[in-house]
Amino acid sequence: MTATLRAATIRGQDLELTWSDARHPTTLPLMWLRDNCPASLHPDTGQRLVDTFRLGADIGARAITVEDQGRGLKVEWAEGGHVSRFNAAFLAALRADPDVLPATIRTWSRDEIAGHVPSVAYAAFMSTQAAVKEFLEQIAQVGFSFVEGVPGTPEATQAVAARIAYTRQTIFGGYWDFTANLEHKDTAYTSMAIGPHTDGTYSLDAPGYQMFHCLAAECTGGENVLIDGFRIAEIMRRDARADFQLLSEVAIPGQYLDEARGIHLMARRPLFRLDESDKLVQVSYNNLDRAPFTLQPARQRAFYRALATFNALCSDPQLQHRRRLLPGSVLLFDNWRVLHARDAYTGYRRLAGVYMNKEDVESRLRFLRARAGEAV
Ligand SMILES: [Fe+2]
Repeated sequence: MTATLRAATIRGQDLELTWSDARHPTTLPLMWLRDNCPASLHPDTGQRLVDTFRLGADIGARAITVEDQGRGLKVEWAEGGHVSRFNAAFLAALRADPDVLPATIRTWSRDEIAGHVPSVAYAAFMSTQAAVKEFLEQIAQVGFSFVEGVPGTPEATQAVAARIAYTRQTIFGGYWDFTANLEHKDTAYTSMAIGPHTDGTYSLDAPGYQMFHCLAAECTGGENVLIDGFRIAEIMRRDARADFQLLSEVAIPGQYLDEARGIHLMARRPLFRLDESDKLVQVSYNNLDRAPFTLQPARQRAFYRALATFNALCSDPQLQHRRRLLPGSVLLFDNWRVLHARDAYTGYRRLAGVYMNKEDVESRLRFLRARAGEAV
């Protein structure tokens, strides 16, 4: 049940709201209420039209009323006769640190995900928004999911991608589709084994998601591996605190070099990127693309130890979900959370896919939640 207001009391330049249930009172500056007045939003775009900087900290209210049995708040301002009306539900939901996209994150090990590998069916995915939403909710929770039963063609792969978000353009192009031909200067374009990593450690805004569709697998080996970086973070926070701390502090530079094409990308961030309340936001790790950088010698040695702890956990088979990707199964995974790897292979293998931006996929899910009448 939604909270309703009991009383609204002016205390100096603030308004204290008390609630009909046991929750703590909410205190908001009057200036905030005027700045966030719902009647002062553009009717079509929802953008703020108030001139924030003409509001004084000493702004006064002529009358404040709890109305509609506590479901609303009315503020009549002293100046200009303006009236602001707020929904109690809106006021009750305010947070100092709102999640950009709330989700129940469920981290996993090999055994925990086995038998619970998320997927949706291609036919439903292409024809209903509910299936797209289910697919994106699965990825928000565990970091990856499959669309099953997809025709093994480039067209079908691109059609699946287009149901979610637009394809990100990078130095590799947009939609990519390749065999081991070293078209780009990257081990991904060989048949070598590729150790656990995330893509784009050299990008200021690493691709949020990656889609893989194996269009031909006439080869031996080449099994794919997914690892939940958020689970590794949980383990290190608990069992290797100093290592975790170091990897959340040291900004590691990543780089991508292709002199012939005139490309030299660089970015730097900690392996574990935390937000201001210490919540894990992003895991970034690609030991091959790490650029030279130095730390004070003792800290440098500690850094190598911490990196080795992380790498050992990535290499632990008990934390690895292994799967041979085959035509028909489209994988989408969160590149800010799930590390991927691939065994060496011999024979012919054709892999296609796209990158998508974090914000575009989240936008899609937010929209689909609102459509389904859920909180976003
Ligand atoms: Fe990769």
